[in-house]
Amino acid sequence: MSHYHIKHLEEYYQVYRKSVREPENFWEEIAEEHFLWRKKWDKVLSWDFTKPEVKWFEGAQLNITENCIDRHLSTRGDKTAILFEPNDPNEPAEHITYRQLYERVNQFANVLKEQGIQRGDRVCIYVPMIPELAISILACARIGAIHSVVFAGFSSKALATRINDSECKLVVTADGSYRGAKTIDLKGIVDEALQNCPSVKSVLVVKRTNEDVHMEAGRDHWLEPLLDKASKEGKAEIMNAEDPLFILYTSGSTGRPKGMVHTSAGYMVYTAYTFKNTFQYREHDIFWCTADIGWITGHSYIVYGPLANGATTVMFEGVPSYPDFGRFWEIVQKHKVTQFYTAPTAIRALAKQGVELVDKYDLSSLKVLGSVGEPINEEAWHWYNDTIGKGKSPIVDTWWQTETGGIMITPIPFVTPTKPTYATLPFIGVQPALMDDNGQEIKGNQVDGKLCIKFPWPSMARTIWGDHQRYKDTYFSAFENKYFTGDGALRDEVGYYRITGRVDDVIIVSGHNLGTAPIEDAINEHPAVSESAIVGFPHDVKGNALYGYVTLKDTGESRNHENLRKEINQLITDRIGPIAKLDKIQFTQGLPKTRSGKIMRRILRKIASNDTSNLGDTSTLLNPEVVQEIMDNVL
Ligand code: WT7
Repeated sequence: MSHYHIKHLEEYYQVYRKSVREPENFWEEIAEEHFLWRKKWDKVLSWDFTKPEVKWFEGAQLNITENCIDRHLSTRGDKTAILFEPNDPNEPAEHITYRQLYERVNQFANVLKEQGIQRGDRVCIYVPMIPELAISILACARIGAIHSVVFAGFSSKALATRINDSECKLVVTADGSYRGAKTIDLKGIVDEALQNCPSVKSVLVVKRTNEDVHMEAGRDHWLEPLLDKASKEGKAEIMNAEDPLFILYTSGSTGRPKGMVHTSAGYMVYTAYTFKNTFQYREHDIFWCTADIGWITGHSYIVYGPLANGATTVMFEGVPSYPDFGRFWEIVQKHKVTQFYTAPTAIRALAKQGVELVDKYDLSSLKVLGSVGEPINEEAWHWYNDTIGKGKSPIVDTWWQTETGGIMITPIPFVTPTKPTYATLPFIGVQPALMDDNGQEIKGNQVDGKLCIKFPWPSMARTIWGDHQRYKDTYFSAFENKYFTGDGALRDEVGYYRITGRVDDVIIVSGHNLGTAPIEDAINEHPAVSESAIVGFPHDVKGNALYGYVTLKDTGESRNHENLRKEINQLITDRIGPIAKLDKIQFTQGLPKTRSGKIMRRILRKIASNDTSNLGDTSTLLNPEVVQEIMDNVL
């Protein structure tokens, strides 16, 4: 019998050892006993990190939606699959049962087919957190179309880049979206994006805000009447294990966003298995992950992982601050949420509010608390543990990435003793390594280094859409035969891991992964700007905020700096989205550079963080004199 549900620490160690010594036997047992296959695999794993090429369950056939929906119908047909909580607390919640989900996904899938979407086609989903978001994802998966969800907070430019990169044929969107007291003109953003997207043939529009929107004849269709006419039955396309399931873009330290490609079988097995154990999920639990489905956290732990386990998964449309900062706790009470999974930035924002907003509500249903997206600081950890968990709900600080598909380092609640700010132990099957700057693995405990993974796990991304070379260069070239995460980590005396943060030019702001290059590119588009450099600096709610150093073309010209700052932030909003706006913009005479012309971000980072006691040797710089000037004018 496989160890699908791990219940105590000895069992964890025993299963972990097996997963490392006999990974193929281990994953084969998990896959065999807990999923529905149309055909079993010929080979569990083949891999070569030098190419890199990784295949799990090769030869197997399946459809992930049969695992997430159909197979539950006989036992859980009337159970709530998706529990939708709207933005407006006065609008009733919607309980979508597994039977209803089956019907709605089939209807949607049939509409996609009518629109000419076939297996392998890419469909862009730019939809707010309403049920149609989850349903459209599953509908794509049902017919073998590859979904590419773009977070509905991204700008039209960012949306267009992503649509074009994977040449999506169809876009699903909504007339508008709610965000607290605000309404956002989503369809307008799509219309703007589509001016430059030749591959898009049709747009399906969900009615949500009932705003008047432009409908382009022959291209745009209201979804509802099409769904009403569509059949509630439909066969799932039989997919191969390694067929792409979805593309999800993540920002890199340089250049265009990277379209991470996840495939069917391995992703399903790993997200389901991590969901079960990391949240100690049981049949009658109500699981709530507050992330947006536009991020990997939502893909894996709102949609696929929970549904593959036949769970009830909460989808919340709104924001933590509307109508007030008690909203999360009101929802926990109302739906008797048992597992609550959120981000440190939300925890810090909520911890700033009066405790009466927590005490007003009955949180006794909670059993497990989760954190994801960035390192959780000690203070936030204790507030979460004491004020929300009342010391009885363990915190699972889960480390993972868009690229890893599922949770990689995490405590298993009630199994692994937690330690503040530590993600603790590798999940079953995960083989981390800490590396030094000479490319050697650092063995033993009480050490720190760059975090790599030295053996494949089932849900790892297989490539970057359209650019396998970039996949290799980014993840498999820094260290021989290892996947490099881009993070630094330390391992304590008992082997617990603590993630210390990015070691590359990616900055995590409010849990969002932002590359410096695309932001700098946006700034440099301003006609007055000659050069710019972005660094992160500590921020008590966002974790990091962005600090921009900007050199103007004509330093003699006396331009209004306040106006320039506004224009720069507007450019960033247009090109990327409001999440990438800079908190501080300092105008400088120059940027510190190495002799080879590389901007020394390390120095800029220290200055922005007010940590200038040890700037290191600046004498080898091309232009050491700018450092003092920058320090004198720091904001
Ligand atoms: C980066 C990945 C996968 C979830 C959402 C983010 C940072 C993520 C933790 C954590 C410390 C964390 C890392 C990672 N990160 N979780 N528990 N502790 N850091 O996905 O946008 O792909 O970002 O988020 O730096 O590399 P992502």
